[in-house]
Amino acid sequence: LNYCVPRTRKEIFETLVKGLQRLEYRGYDSAGKALDGINNNNIVLIKKKGKVKALDEELYKKDCMDLEVELDTHFGMAHTRWATHGEPSALNSHPHRSDKNNEFVVIHNGIITNYKELKKYLNSKGYEFESKTDTEVIPKLIKYVYDNREREDLSFSTLVERVIQQLEGAFALMFKSRYFPGEAVATRRGSPLLIGVRSKYELSADSICICVLTLNSCSTYHLIQTNGYESLFSYGKAVEYYFASDASAIIEHTNKVIYLEDDDIAAVVGGKLSLHRLNRLAGEVPVRAIQTLQMELQEIMKGNFEAFMQKEIFEQPESVFNTMRGRICFDTNKVILGGLEDHLKEIKRCRRLIMIGCGTSFHAAVATRQVLEELTELPVMVELASDFLDRNTPVFRDDVCFYISQSGETADTLMALRYCKDRGALTVGVTNTVGSSISRDTDCGVHINAGPEIGVASTKAYTSQFVALIMFGLMMSEDRISLQTRRLEIINGLRILPELIKKVLTLDKNIKSIADELYEQRSLLVMGRGFNYATCLEGALKIKEIPYMHSEGILAGELKHGPLALIDKHMPVIMIIMRDACYTKCQNALQQVTARSGRPIILCCQDDPEVSKNAYKTIELPQTVDCLQGILSVIPLQLLSFHLAVLRGYDVDCPRNLAKSVTVE
Ligand code: G6P
Repeated sequence: LNYCVPRTRKEIFETLVKGLQRLEYRGYDSAGKALDGINNNNIVLIKKKGKVKALDEELYKKDCMDLEVELDTHFGMAHTRWATHGEPSALNSHPHRSDKNNEFVVIHNGIITNYKELKKYLNSKGYEFESKTDTEVIPKLIKYVYDNREREDLSFSTLVERVIQQLEGAFALMFKSRYFPGEAVATRRGSPLLIGVRSKYELSADSICICVLTLNSCSTYHLIQTNGYESLFSYGKAVEYYFASDASAIIEHTNKVIYLEDDDIAAVVGGKLSLHRLNRLAGEVPVRAIQTLQMELQEIMKGNFEAFMQKEIFEQPESVFNTMRGRICFDTNKVILGGLEDHLKEIKRCRRLIMIGCGTSFHAAVATRQVLEELTELPVMVELASDFLDRNTPVFRDDVCFYISQSGETADTLMALRYCKDRGALTVGVTNTVGSSISRDTDCGVHINAGPEIGVASTKAYTSQFVALIMFGLMMSEDRISLQTRRLEIINGLRILPELIKKVLTLDKNIKSIADELYEQRSLLVMGRGFNYATCLEGALKIKEIPYMHSEGILAGELKHGPLALIDKHMPVIMIIMRDACYTKCQNALQQVTARSGRPIILCCQDDPEVSKNAYKTIELPQTVDCLQGILSVIPLQLLSFHLAVLRGYDVDCPRNLAKSVTVE
């Protein structure tokens, strides 16, 4: 950071803590910070096991910190961890250091896959390791390069460049060194990293571009393009920079950001930012524009809700509306997804659609598969990204592959994207995060516009993905005469969907009372079929993720092939029985359950005496078009998961062992 006005150390601490708290949903088993010391360019490290709050408390215990000291230029970096290598502990938390004098310190998001080889090599050169992490090879490696520089006068970014040439895996990195006071270097490959730019002067997104420099063999900078470059640089100390994994950490300071691309190296030297590329291609003249974020601070605050998850469940009337806003014309029944328009012809000619995702995003594909098959008249495959890769699934040039991801950063989904790109398929992103890796690396796509989702358990992103995929089906079927009645029915359903969601949310009290009855149970089965099968999978996932209850989503058609053996009067079962083409078959399943003394809680349409008479309890939902019903039927299960977790005494937004954005394989 480089401040416009002198700031006290306390303000810098607070900025870092607040930023970390906003990112805490990404990982929360330990946290740490590095700050400039007062004397001799030393760097102070503070690390703590547990949540960011524990780190915050620790800071004030350090008597080496003069909190009121004012600094013109100051740098601090902080990290919140979700353990991949090495248990959660202060020692394993970041920043990691090169040696006991903290000559080089590094924070890292991602995974270094060749760390064992690097560690072995560095060990053989006498470098000793103190943690069990993959990350620690990075500060050791930069020190090794520095120690062996012979007579070369290497800049900090050149050192970083040499280090990342040796790294395999995924990373966003921030470096600091006592040998380069007033400097910091950041880089990324595979993991997200952005730079927030805040200036005393108005920064217009259109007028300023940062040009990207290349490092030639003599390690001097070459300016490739001067478009807007000088105007930013001449601000000098009037600019402050915020590096972060995602925008929620910095939005309260600035909405102007630069998204770094893979192998960009960003250096702040004496208050000025420069960017250059590792291994630039001949003729490439890269430019990174400053973009203006639409996100509002209020969107990432909890408001009056107990948890982000609860807030996001209740936001669904608006988030679903925002997914449709400006894209459906209810007068002409036209649906336009601007990000797909140019590729529509190509998509219509394809051999098949492949929908790829993980977790909840995969369920959005399952939920819409049937209606997409119907509206596009194409075969639709739905794939879990990890399994898709494990199978080396054949992919062809005339396939169209969709990558569904709230964060746009999930490592498995991203790898599946690269796999299909290499095979020449057309790639389509369906994400909630503007500027994310998936939205940038796909040929075209749809932003679902649900607004930032902070709760680890995905809720509003699911319903918005659902709606976005249906809108894609509607766009594809616009010229099919035989499908017009169906299209109209769906479009009319979408028009009133936000109102129906509001009605479902009024059932909250009823669902809380069901949670009161269920919260001490060990298991909960969720059963359904057809358009509501995905609701069973998604509901069961929510019940696993947040209240840590064993739960299974069961296809009612498979009941007699195994799950029926689990049914007795003690096993809690939720059944989804809606008035659609599967209604009679679901009634059969209900008979089978009640015949074994099961006592099902049934999610059904309003006024269905036939179903109600066999239910232990009912949750009655407004009826909508069959293919949209899953949007309404999932909400009671989201609410149930929330209430069960609260009753069981768990932290709803920080479920154990889980993270919001899984950027490792
Ligand atoms: C993690 C989250 C899930 C999410 C999944 C896919 O496992 O905990 O809530 O559904 O990742 O994330 P994505 O950002 O790709 O939708």
